[in-house]
Amino acid sequence: MNACIIAIDGPAGAGKSTVARKVAEKLGYLYLDTGAMYRVIALESIRQSVPLTDEALAALAKRTSIRFDLDGPGGNRVLSNGVDVTEAIRSPEVTRLVSQVAAVPGVRAEMVAQQQQIGRQKAVVLDGRDIGTVVFPEAEVKIFLTASVEERARRRWLEQTNKGQKASLEEISSDIAARDLADSTRETSPLRQADDAYLLDTSRLTPEEVVDAIIAYAKEHSHAV
Ligand code: DC
Repeated sequence: MNACIIAIDGPAGAGKSTVARKVAEKLGYLYLDTGAMYRVIALESIRQSVPLTDEALAALAKRTSIRFDLDGPGGNRVLSNGVDVTEAIRSPEVTRLVSQVAAVPGVRAEMVAQQQQIGRQKAVVLDGRDIGTVVFPEAEVKIFLTASVEERARRRWLEQTNKGQKASLEEISSDIAARDLADSTRETSPLRQADDAYLLDTSRLTPEEVVDAIIAYAKEHSHAV
């Protein structure tokens, strides 16, 4: 039984990770950032100069140990084979490559199996692209978060500018559009709203409003929340 699963899917920059983290915090659930797992494999493929073939990437996914350390500095550190890669997996190089890595069936099979194992043991909020459709299709609470490309690009730009990084709104916008296309047209588990997911457009909502809407929906739709 996966009674305590909250599945949050949606395109890049819709606010999934901010909102999923806060929902988990408020409910006392674990938060699992599944995009970070695909990013780790993309990062390791660069660091280990792994050829970008399906076979080599699937083997890499199998031999890479991914851990989330909730008690590390700043909370929720991402470890790859014991090494802290929390910042490295957000580099533009990884961001450009990750859609290609995430499209490989063998990589997906490995990541999905790990996600399912975690969800079977704990109450968890997962965010990603295929949580409500493939990883936990039986979840009672499924949310599909979206926002216009312009709004998503504006948020990413603001985030990067606040970190002191130079960013071009146009470049971010075209990167997001390209990633949307790659994620939603790939053959294996494309980004798609589950038929029974609650569609929430966050373009005009604050993160707090989105968090409250998700918790209200979860309480209404699951006896376990
Ligand atoms: O959410 P993010 O930007 O960190 O995701 C990184 C990439 O991983 C993104 O291009 C889509 C892919 N992804 C996926 O295919 N399935 C998931 N469950 C999560 C992310």
